[in-house]
Amino acid sequence: MCGIVGYFGKKEAQPVLMEGLRRLEYRGYDSAGIATMEGDVIRITRSVGKVSELAALIKEGDQSNVGIAHTRWATHGKPTESNAHPHRSNDGKVAVVHNGIIENYKELKEMLQRSGATFVSETDTEVIAHLIRHELSSGINLVDATRTALVQLKGTYGIIVMSSEYPDYIVAARMGSPLILGVGDNEHYIASDASAILRYTRQMVYLDDGEIAVVGRGGFDIRTLGNKMVEKEIELIDAAEAEIQKMGYPHFMMKEMMEQPDVLLNSTRGRLDVENGMAILGGLRDVADRLRDIERVIIVGCGSAYYAGLVGEYMLEEYAGIPVEVELGSEFRYRKPIISKNTVVIAISQSGETADTLAAVREAKEKGALTLGIVNAVGSTIARETDAGVYNHAGPEIGVASTKAFVSQMTVLALFTLFLGRQRSMSLVTGQRIAKEILELPDKVKEILIQQDKIGDIGLRYKDVAHAYFLGRKYCNPIAMEGALKLKEISYIHAEGYAAGEMKHGPIALIEDGFPVIVLAPKDSVYDKSMSNLEEIRARGGRVIMVTTEGCEIDRNLVDDVIFIPKTLEMLTPILAVIPLQLLAYFVTIEKGLDPDMPRNLAKSVTVE
Ligand code: G6P
Repeated sequence: MCGIVGYFGKKEAQPVLMEGLRRLEYRGYDSAGIATMEGDVIRITRSVGKVSELAALIKEGDQSNVGIAHTRWATHGKPTESNAHPHRSNDGKVAVVHNGIIENYKELKEMLQRSGATFVSETDTEVIAHLIRHELSSGINLVDATRTALVQLKGTYGIIVMSSEYPDYIVAARMGSPLILGVGDNEHYIASDASAILRYTRQMVYLDDGEIAVVGRGGFDIRTLGNKMVEKEIELIDAAEAEIQKMGYPHFMMKEMMEQPDVLLNSTRGRLDVENGMAILGGLRDVADRLRDIERVIIVGCGSAYYAGLVGEYMLEEYAGIPVEVELGSEFRYRKPIISKNTVVIAISQSGETADTLAAVREAKEKGALTLGIVNAVGSTIARETDAGVYNHAGPEIGVASTKAFVSQMTVLALFTLFLGRQRSMSLVTGQRIAKEILELPDKVKEILIQQDKIGDIGLRYKDVAHAYFLGRKYCNPIAMEGALKLKEISYIHAEGYAAGEMKHGPIALIEDGFPVIVLAPKDSVYDKSMSNLEEIRARGGRVIMVTTEGCEIDRNLVDDVIFIPKTLEMLTPILAVIPLQLLAYFVTIEKGLDPDMPRNLAKSVTVE
């Protein structure tokens, strides 16, 4: 989940690498560093804090055309200058940036210390620099030394290595952490994420696990850890540069919330056949026959993607009549899941790189399940490793708190439901109704977004609360959990989301005068039950923000604030109900003077277990 970037070419490396780091900062931002190489001199600058703090330290006029850089999300050791990457060998001749976790670093460290290495950081990464140096001293070149070192590592890595003894090339390798090679005109880029280098080239080579790229003046080659050369295709990636700019909004999160009507259009464009009440999902064409025989669906995901999966469970069971389980990626593989070949495992992931979700996909494949992806990042590892899937087409999501990707995940799940439902017993009329309602969602989302000032006022009034509950039933139960996650991750207010019916089994013990509760009670099949829960909270002095459907007559004595969302089908209500919760979390965070795009301790893409 750290971000790494490397350059070998004819431009000045420093500005290219710094720009890359800025683009990658969403992956981790507790410290950053850069190393450039000119002749046989490697210059390293590192800093605690954001990339802007590193930028203030680096000196102008660096002429080197080769370099590596890193923005960190700490796993081993605090975010300090000495723990920041690049790490180097004691003689300063080998420098390394790394994304991932080396599990056997303690054993390796002891071995290296015995042979004379002195460690100056608490990181697992530092062993890689010393280990490569150790291998180099047996007389082999940098490529072989890197290969031999990597074979000894257990864990995950995306790394870039350079050595002042080998100024003609740099070496990059991947095992479990994404790495992309960008091909320019007599110049090459390496990055953990295409967004870092998109402004320079769209020609990308995706490294696979166990592959090593050697990049130098003469071009690049790719080989395996066993030194077998590999032919890889150069792919042209299609993503507008403008999509990863803030476009005048103060934060990416705000921009991404405002984009949601367009995201709904993009996620559904060309995929709905209203007349036949069908979803046309090209990515599933090859597996459509197998899907007809599916008897069980398991959805895996982490964070918001997991909550989207829970919404999918309600949709698929109600309308496609297939039993569904939803599992956290981190639990799935350790639970010894029972999977038959008539099970489909659907992985939901915005980044397509989440280590726990990816591990679940691999486990499912090994057990013979059909694996599908609902992935936003085109060409990402999960997209490539699943048997088939549907892209979200939500565009790059940079804000750490997922907003537009989450909405798009639920939308794609609604399309899946149509697809699988119509393969089974869903009637034409029901299919048509769902398809028609999905098409109306973008305008309905707009109606909620224009209430941002009102929601901002509510945010102002709640900025000093210490705790909050979010309650919802049925389709809105996962939305209560997502709302709580949004609030806690960016505003640091302790928040919990519950199925409203669970209140009486414990959580209500905390309700006293002024305790804030956000109640999701749209006019749906469980509205009356939700209202009873609301009264129970009110009777104990709780301060209530209610989210309900336009046209509902609300007794103002029962609520402090009410936010209305347009009416839609019950199964699509979560797509609308989450929007006010995103806005609320955002405005509370702004009022507290915090940065919603880069909340503490978090990273956008979690590529470590
Ligand atoms: C991180 C992000 C969350 C996201 C989760 C899963 O924790 O901060 O916003 O929901 O990872 O990420 P994915 O890329 O797999 O959807």
